[in-house]
Amino acid sequence: MTTLTWHGHACFVLEHGAHRVIIDPFLTGNPTADIDAAQLGKVDAILVTHGHGDHVGDAVPLAQMHDAVVVAPYELAVFLSEQGAPRVHPMHIGGAHDFPFGRVKLVPAIHGGMVEGTDGSRFATWPCGFVVTMGGKSVYHTGDTALTMDMQLLAGRVDVLLVPVGDNYTMGIEDAVRAVEFVKPKVAIPMHYGTFPVIAADPEEFRTAVGNRAEVVVLTPGQSYGY
Ligand code: NI
Ligand code: MN
Repeated sequence: MTTLTWHGHACFVLEHGAHRVIIDPFLTGNPTADIDAAQLGKVDAILVTHGHGDHVGDAVPLAQMHDAVVVAPYELAVFLSEQGAPRVHPMHIGGAHDFPFGRVKLVPAIHGGMVEGTDGSRFATWPCGFVVTMGGKSVYHTGDTALTMDMQLLAGRVDVLLVPVGDNYTMGIEDAVRAVEFVKPKVAIPMHYGTFPVIAADPEEFRTAVGNRAEVVVLTPGQSYGY
């Protein structure tokens, strides 16, 4: 079994056997996070979808703390390396790589490319989503994105869809339901809502709207789901 744990916003930890990876590690400053960065156990890898602060989060200090590899779109990986991440693995859209913990594929996300950091916004990168396969099961973390036709390319290839429903910066509930129609996952888990007032959303409204298209699992920060 593979287990995922939501830590609020777009931050998830995926675990299989002895392997553990975190996606979009926004813990410090995340009003909905259930743990702080120091409480996160050992991780093998840190996957970052794009350069916005609510996704990069604690990537560099966590990478240093755990000697974890940072996996990100090329320009963002280079930036995080310059910021002090000890090991980075740059990738880009359409590419997949087999890591010791599992397989990671970068898929398109339509979103902003600014990279926030102490040196300012020097890089415009192409944001991504991740399809992460561990223990034979695939999770699609869309990153921050609009609904895209490209999602149809993943139809039937994903067990669990982690989908934003908070609207304003990403898909809202209406388009997230269409994303479920496109991807046809077994399970859909809403994310990127409720962190700030502008992205307030009712996950039960999402559940009702999805209906029988997929099982909707609504997590509270700190809660885990096995698949
Ligand atoms: Ni963003
Ligand atoms: Mn975001």
